[in-house]
Amino acid sequence: MAKLITIERHILEEQQAHFPEATGTFTNLMYDIALVAKQITHLTSRAGLANILGAAGDVNVQGEQQQKLDVYADDLIYRMMDHTGRLCIMGSEERPEPLHIPDKYPTGPYALLYDPLDGSSNIDYNVSIGTIFSIHRRVSTGDRGTIDDLLQPGYKMVAAGYTIYGSSTMLVYSAGIGVHGFTLDPNIGEFLLSHPNIRIPSKPKYYSINHGYTAYWHDGVRQYGQWLTQPERNLSLRYIGSMVVDFHRTLLSGGVFAYPADTRDPDKPFGKLRLNYECAPLAFVAEQAGGYASDGVGPILNIQPQDIHQRVPFFVGNRDLVEKAEEFIDQHDTEWVERYMSEVQHVVPA
Ligand code: AHG
Ligand code: MN
Ligand code: MN
Repeated sequence: MAKLITIERHILEEQQAHFPEATGTFTNLMYDIALVAKQITHLTSRAGLANILGAAGDVNVQGEQQQKLDVYADDLIYRMMDHTGRLCIMGSEERPEPLHIPDKYPTGPYALLYDPLDGSSNIDYNVSIGTIFSIHRRVSTGDRGTIDDLLQPGYKMVAAGYTIYGSSTMLVYSAGIGVHGFTLDPNIGEFLLSHPNIRIPSKPKYYSINHGYTAYWHDGVRQYGQWLTQPERNLSLRYIGSMVVDFHRTLLSGGVFAYPADTRDPDKPFGKLRLNYECAPLAFVAEQAGGYASDGVGPILNIQPQDIHQRVPFFVGNRDLVEKAEEFIDQHDTEWVERYMSEVQHVVPA
């Protein structure tokens, strides 16, 4: 029988091998994330029953107000993480303000950012969704964390990853030493190492972009969209609309996922996806797997976030395919790039 490696054992062994001086706080934080993933698996597997059973996770329903699943998952993550003493602050896609650790609980050396349910518009159609997270080291010095702990460029990340609630539940993470994937065995309730050391294949198979917005794309992006469809590329199209799942496929099959800027909504000139909760964590994972992620101008991981909910264009996957997008944008979208660069700051790692 093959050797079974649980996520607990894997994280612990990784820590002992690479960070022998570590206190174990980070290891425990990762265990917490795996536990939350199991709880959200339970929630999402009952999503279709919400109308007959009431609020997700609640069987005793009479008169209870129903909550949307993403709001419920958001609250669950916060409540699972607020009292552990491992975090100093959190930021969630679902909440306008940073989430502070209540005064009655101790704080710790890390900051957590998360998108509780990515692809939530797919829930009603029973399509896979996921949770995205990233962890930064605390930089503020007071008793409680501050927004500065949440506004750090991606290259400073300690770890990032995601879980997918699909035909099986998977947890994929990187703590800076490669990317590792675990599949939940529902019979024993454990995440088992199923995808050790994931590397993005050099021969790409799929591309993933919403061609429905072609009319709203800037010239360079439009040309890039066309370039992807040319027979020489030999790429097939897949677009689920749950980025975390589209990303996961891209990571395993090779290819590119893109959510470019467009002119649909003047209030969102830089696309829809959020730097802190969606793009930066997946960029970290992509680079750890030998891929690359860009905003169309430079590395996602070099962007200095100005606002916790800031949106950026996103191109991720095989390096050559992503760099091609940068090339098209550089050549054809000069005016747009000028505007973008006047608002977005790229910093070079020290
Ligand atoms: P969320 O559910 O967290 O709000 O994110 C949804 C995002 C992303 O997952 C997906 O790739 C994208 O929305 C799909 O958007 P379009 O329907 O505009 O292509
Ligand atoms: Mn999302
Ligand atoms: Mn979401």
